[in-house]
Amino acid sequence: MTSKDLHKQPFSEETITKLDIFEKYLESWLPVAIQSPFITEVNICDFFAGIGRDIKGTDGSPIRIIKTIKKFEDTILKQKLKIHILFNEYILAKYQQLCDCISKEQEALKNLDSNLSIEILNEDFKELFVSKKSSLENHFNLFFLDQSGIKQVTEDVFLDLTKFRKTDFMFFVSSSAFKRFASDTSFRKYFPDIDH
Ligand SMILES: C[S@@+](CC[C@H](N)C(=O)[O-])C[C@H]1O[C@@H](n2cnc3c(N)ncnc32)[C@H](O)[C@@H]1O
Repeated sequence: MTSKDLHKQPFSEETITKLDIFEKYLESWLPVAIQSPFITEVNICDFFAGIGRDIKGTDGSPIRIIKTIKKFEDTILKQKLKIHILFNEYILAKYQQLCDCISKEQEALKNLDSNLSIEILNEDFKELFVSKKSSLENHFNLFFLDQSGIKQVTEDVFLDLTKFRKTDFMFFVSSSAFKRFASDTSFRKYFPDIDH
């Protein structure tokens, strides 16, 4: 079962809706973190980050994260919130495009220099999640898990995520994959209880 590469064509209307939902969530989540007297540091992790934008220049999740942080720049500075962004992309060529895209945004973020750190990684999500789990699990986090298809956020990962007490996470599974492959053995391995 292969999933189509979302970065080889302009984002579809459905993809843009998905990204809008994530962006709106972030726009609500971030002010809560900024204003909370108990939160001094947050992590925003985009574990399947892509290349930053689509081929037509429509903002992808990395740019939406950066623009949202920029929107709240004044209050972030006033409240001295520290933000760490983790971007991860497994495909090397895409990771390189992502690095270029983010480096072009650095100028716009210069006022936030001492409040913002950005880490860009080129790792397989499951391995990265295992290696980062213990350092992230007691922090305030927002995780965006925009996997292609269905395979990455397994039951084990999901159960681990539910144990992170101060973490909000948003993940997507492809509804077209559900429609097309619900009875396929490769699909049932991940969703044994799904009705088909
Ligand atoms: C649905 S796209 C994410 C799109 C992104 N949110 C955006 O706005 O452009 C999923 C991304 O995950 C990457 N990917 C695929 N397998 C991965 C893995 N095992 N670990 C991390 N990233 C992976 C793909 O190359 C693809 O760029």
